[in-house]
Amino acid sequence: MSRVVVATAFGGPEVLSVADEPVPEPGPGEARIEVRAVGVNPVDWKVYSGAMGADPSRLPIRLGSEAAGVVTAAGPHAVGPAGPVAAGDEVIAFRASGAYAAELVAPAQALVPKPTALDWAQASGLLLTGATAWHALAATGVQAGDTVLIHAAAGGVGLMAVQLAAARGAVVVATASPARHGFLRELGAVPVAYGDGLEDRVRDAAPGGIDAALDLIGTDEAIDVSLALVADRARIATIAAFARGQQEGIRVLGGAPGADPGTEIRDAARLELARLAQDRALRVFVTRTYPLADVAKAHREIMSVHTTGKIALIP
Ligand SMILES: NC(=O)c1ccc[n+]([C@@H]2O[C@H](COP(=O)([O-])OP(=O)(O)OC[C@H]3O[C@@H](n4cnc5c(N)ncnc54)[C@H](OP(=O)(O)O)[C@@H]3O)[C@@H](O)[C@H]2O)c1
Repeated sequence: MSRVVVATAFGGPEVLSVADEPVPEPGPGEARIEVRAVGVNPVDWKVYSGAMGADPSRLPIRLGSEAAGVVTAAGPHAVGPAGPVAAGDEVIAFRASGAYAAELVAPAQALVPKPTALDWAQASGLLLTGATAWHALAATGVQAGDTVLIHAAAGGVGLMAVQLAAARGAVVVATASPARHGFLRELGAVPVAYGDGLEDRVRDAAPGGIDAALDLIGTDEAIDVSLALVADRARIATIAAFARGQQEGIRVLGGAPGADPGTEIRDAARLELARLAQDRALRVFVTRTYPLADVAKAHREIMSVHTTGKIALIP
């Protein structure tokens, strides 16, 4: 049996509980993992909030899609993107459905060797945000010499996008609340406060203009300012303003209907992200960990939309 988090109804974090569920033997192409840390992402609360539909036949819902842990058993033909998977391997699982668990069976194709440079909590937070940021930079063609505006730069996806854009040789103008500005400067970005007057502040911060923009928050402000400053709409991407993004003809990325899921590019990014983390060229900032049983507290925190970097659950 494994402790797993389930949403037993649609609603707020009060609908979450920890239950015991049997763990199946891994089948062909699968592996069983003893989970050491689980990455928490905003979509994890959106799935039971009702905002993405409230069909009662989907209850109870297992949560989560990324975790890090140790392989305890591998089924036949368990081969991941980096090669065969065997008991004892330290791995990151992404996308692994139902990852909020103490033990998990996942497709071997979802398993990437854990960089030794990351601890368990950091490893659990590398791939969802990293692959999303990678996709957003690729979709907008960010390259050396560009100046890129990143909205919500201190969030989970934002800190990945800032580091990856800087590593490509781009100048990064990063929106965040003033308390995060010192930290963003340390990462090489030019920080700017979001809120009234954002467009003028970005113009002052980037007198040579903005070549591309990533909206990682979904506010009208982020879209309006991006449209005002970037000449080519194909170089503006949103991962959160799905309806508005489609209306405006900018790049809309992710799992929503009509969006570009970027499955191939995101899957391929996983080994690159692990390599960069191993080389200490990409850091994962985990600001808080919670025991699995405190999942509701973790979700209240991520729902505030003001966390910096990542939160992890420890089974
Ligand atoms: N489409 C996809 O494939 C995909 C993938 C991953 C995530 N997402 C979505 O993308 C969004 C970001 O994900 P995440 O994991 O990065 O979330 P997150 O870590 O919760 O983002 C929090 C950040 O948002 C910033 N923020 C809050 N209000 C803001 C505003 N009005 N303007 C600018 N920044 C603001 C906060 O900055 P301060 O603390 O400084 O205020 C904080 O750093 C979520 O909606 C998530 O569901 C989509």
